Amino acid sequence: MGKSGMVEPATYSSLDGVVAIVTGGARGIGAATVRALHRSGAAVVFGDLLVEEGRALAEELGERAYFQRQDVSVEGDWADIVRQAVDLGPLRVLVNNAGILIQATVTDTTEAQFMRCVQVNQLGVFLGMRSCFPSMKEAGGGSIVNVSSIDGLQSMNSLVAYSATKWAIRGMTKAAAIEMGAHGVRVNSVHPGGIYTTMHASELLSVEEAGSFYRDSALPRVGMPEEIANMICFLASDQASFSTGAEFICDGGSSAGKVNPIAPQL
Ligand SMILES: NC(=O)c1ccc[n+]([C@@H]2O[C@H](COP(=O)([O-])OP(=O)(O)OC[C@H]3O[C@@H](n4cnc5c(N)ncnc54)[C@H](O)[C@@H]3O)[C@@H](O)[C@H]2O)c1
Repeated sequence: MGKSGMVEPATYSSLDGVVAIVTGGARGIGAATVRALHRSGAAVVFGDLLVEEGRALAEELGERAYFQRQDVSVEGDWADIVRQAVDLGPLRVLVNNAGILIQATVTDTTEAQFMRCVQVNQLGVFLGMRSCFPSMKEAGGGSIVNVSSIDGLQSMNSLVAYSATKWAIRGMTKAAAIEMGAHGVRVNSVHPGGIYTTMHASELLSVEEAGSFYRDSALPRVGMPEEIANMICFLASDQASFSTGAEFICDGGSSAGKVNPIAPQL
């Protein structure tokens, strides 16, 4: 891989033939994950509120790709998507990716904004794990990947609601991993740093402009959705067979510390 973040499409043989659910799969990291799981041979049922984009992706991928409108904060929508998945075969993979960003200070964040963030980012992940576990247990095991954020390990100004939910995902991941391990289900959290998607204002900024926010990181650029999708697929696959309840950071080193420009460097 070069400095640009363009990654070779990876495939994971153990995902060939498995049934997977991905939330928020119509665009961004979710769409990259749908593509990556599909490329590895999985049948992918993915949900989103964005019906047009979701249908277009399913149509483009063709066989083994199924879109369904889903609001992750609505329990009934979970029942529908799980039903569609188990009709295809044993459910082995769940990627809880859907999320929203509320950017407002502590005093400017309304109760409604805070609670919507909790409903989508936090309740959505809980409902996903609760809805999918029985089928995964029946299938003899599986892997749940919960997409948190680097803001689930640290935080930033104007991220009080978002950060609260992303820290919650990290905690729920560990609780679920401890309960589900005995049934062969692994649960891990992924913590992306700045990734070039709509959430990261990719419609307003070029890759170079977005990268300028990270100029003092070890890898001074914005990340690409495919780089997170590869990590998600690794965790979903049997290649990650001994990892559960763990945090996987993909942030170009931004949380490791900052480059000091006036100190000697290599
Ligand atoms: N882009 C980043 O810099 C970044 C960094 C850290 C973590 N993340 C996390 O990665 C995940 C994906 O984000 P992204 O950058 O691809 O953003 P995005 O906005 O491009 O994609 C998020 C998707 O989730 C969908 N969604 C929103 N609410 C939903 C709901 N209630 N039910 C179902 N789907 C819903 C959206 O329609 C959208 O398609 C999110 O959980 C986000 O918090 C992103």
